[in-house]
Amino acid sequence: MSYAAITGWGKCLPPAVLANSDFETLMDTTDEWITGRTGIKERRIAAAETSDMAAVAGRRALAAAGITPDDVDLVILATCTPDRLVPGAAAMVQEKIGAGSAGAVDVNAACSGFIYALVMGTALVRAGSADRVLVIGAEKLSTWIDLRDRSTAVLFGDGAGAVVLEPSDVPAGLMASELGSDGALADILTVKGSGTEALVDGTPGDTRIEMEGREVFKRAVTTMGDAAARVLAAAGLDLADVDLLVPHQANARIIDATARRLGLGEERVFTNIGSYGNTSAASIPIALTEAVEQGRIAPGSDIVLVAFGGGLTWAAGLLRWGERIEPVGESSAMLPSSTESGMELIRRRQRAREASWDG
Ligand code: COA
Repeated sequence: MSYAAITGWGKCLPPAVLANSDFETLMDTTDEWITGRTGIKERRIAAAETSDMAAVAGRRALAAAGITPDDVDLVILATCTPDRLVPGAAAMVQEKIGAGSAGAVDVNAACSGFIYALVMGTALVRAGSADRVLVIGAEKLSTWIDLRDRSTAVLFGDGAGAVVLEPSDVPAGLMASELGSDGALADILTVKGSGTEALVDGTPGDTRIEMEGREVFKRAVTTMGDAAARVLAAAGLDLADVDLLVPHQANARIIDATARRLGLGEERVFTNIGSYGNTSAASIPIALTEAVEQGRIAPGSDIVLVAFGGGLTWAAGLLRWGERIEPVGESSAMLPSSTESGMELIRRRQRAREASWDG
């Protein structure tokens, strides 16, 4: 049987930082509240677009795999913040990285999107429909942050992460997975006004993140813990076999509660939410990349991936790492340069959004 191993990994974090102390000057909040309730200390704000971050992360992942853009058969981009609705941002990434005439498709399952994309890419490689698949998670959530809503504005950030999937004869890659959704809960975490509904009962352009935080929190903890336990069982493993949990980074308290529900100590949990906030579909590939870079992943490591987000959707996977933890090469790919600070970017974005609502 053929497997679909991860052979390359990479990330792209825009350089502009927005710290909790910056939010103290923008709204009625404190570093103490944000840190205590979420674990977030700062986040990145992109000047470039989602496809730019995705392309940089993608090129870095290709270099780590030691393959060229021409080798890519398919680009799958998990995002709920594409540059435009049409064309999909994946096609822009295909052009930006110079991936010949590779197929390109966006996947939107909000914060669960990267695992959904990984499951799809894995299935195509295992079926022999594609040899080399570039799976990316990239988001520019700062676009939909509304500075008048302190309960959501402080949570989200921008960034991208990517992996390369290639066929493998030895067991590696996703060993088991679960994808789920409950569309009845669509309204508890949503960005309205950007799709076809906008012309029926919304204001075109009136788009911002709306969330019932407590409801989402409760459901995230139970759903993530239970889905992770089910994929572990489906892979024929138990808790003692888990080398690392790499959960979606939405809130440090959700991560802690999920780990507790599973019975995993913090030494087996990867967390970087303090630096980036919730980057939705980008959070798991960024975390995976940092886990490899920090020596938290060894050849053959068994890693539990689990995510939860708008839809509501959830996804979990048991990922077995391959033989190589060193990148084959490095890419010099960079984002277009920008000198704007996180504060300047977020203020400018808010002004543009409010002008579009008023208009
Ligand atoms: N600064 C200061 N106070 C804030 C605040 C902020 N940024 N945001 C909310 N508050 C206040 C509220 O107004 C409320 O005040 P009140 O009691 O006077 O009405 C109080 O804090 C408690 O609000 P509540 O929403 O109940 O807080 P919480 O403990 O549930 O934490 C979240 C709020 C958003 C951090 C939490 O619900 C959460 O993380 N939910 C999940 C979010 C998430 O991860 N979503 C993405 C999933 S992919």
